[in-house]
Amino acid sequence: MKILLMGPPGAGKGSQSAKLVKDYELTNISTGEMFREAARNNEPLGIEAMKYIDQGDLVSDEITNEIVRKRLLKPDAERCFLLDGYPRTVSQAQALDAMLLSMKSKLTAVINITVDKEAILERMVGRRVCKSCGLSYHLKFKPPKKEGVCDACGGELYQRVDDQPESVRNRLDIYERKTKPIVDYYAGHGILKNVNGMQTFENVYKDIKEALGEVK
Ligand code: AP5
Repeated sequence: MKILLMGPPGAGKGSQSAKLVKDYELTNISTGEMFREAARNNEPLGIEAMKYIDQGDLVSDEITNEIVRKRLLKPDAERCFLLDGYPRTVSQAQALDAMLLSMKSKLTAVINITVDKEAILERMVGRRVCKSCGLSYHLKFKPPKKEGVCDACGGELYQRVDDQPESVRNRLDIYERKTKPIVDYYAGHGILKNVNGMQTFENVYKDIKEALGEVK
């Protein structure tokens, strides 16, 4: 299974992919998480990427395509993977097609999680993320058992700089202009499945599983 999970910022991609990779034994490839991990390790790529990420801007297609290309060539991505947050521009989608073609591979399904604009800001502003394992929480919708502490690993929870309202507005604007056109791109390929993200975590997951079950 080679799945692409897409949707606007805060749609629930990270929350759903955490469960999908476990249940379907997929290799998780999240470009946002790859950049943040590189920054945590003080790698030049991560430090450079965070200049754009913190403002809510996109990292360049050139840099992003290259890290994905390298990642897809690793043995654990050969059989099945889940792409989260990539591609984000039509040019990245075309680059991905070319990469997969050269690997004699192709996407099995593209799941597009849809959410109302009004819900996005509330989801982003209330999000808290574990510094150690990256698990995501929400102050109202998915609070940790103990305030500020990750249930899974005991790590410290923090608020991403790009979850501040100013950055969120920029990310939404970029999503509308640059990322949304990819929905039509994949609809044209006949592999797009829309899933309503305005439901409980469990029901969104149920619908994604149903959509994947229809994949031939
Ligand atoms: P990335 O990390 O990919 O961020 P994003 O796409 O903006 O998505 P988020 O992680 O913000 O949200 P999500 O959809 O995963 O939602 P989550 O499950 O956490 O990218 C960050 C940045 O990196 C980009 O802005 C860009 O700068 C750069 N970048 C990454 N990829 C790039 C690329 N390809 N090209 C160029 N630059 C790139 O949920 C959000 C909150 O809502 C959580 O608190 C969660 O608990 C809550 N929630 C989720 N689902 C529900 C639900 N059903 N009900 C109630 N609450 C819910």
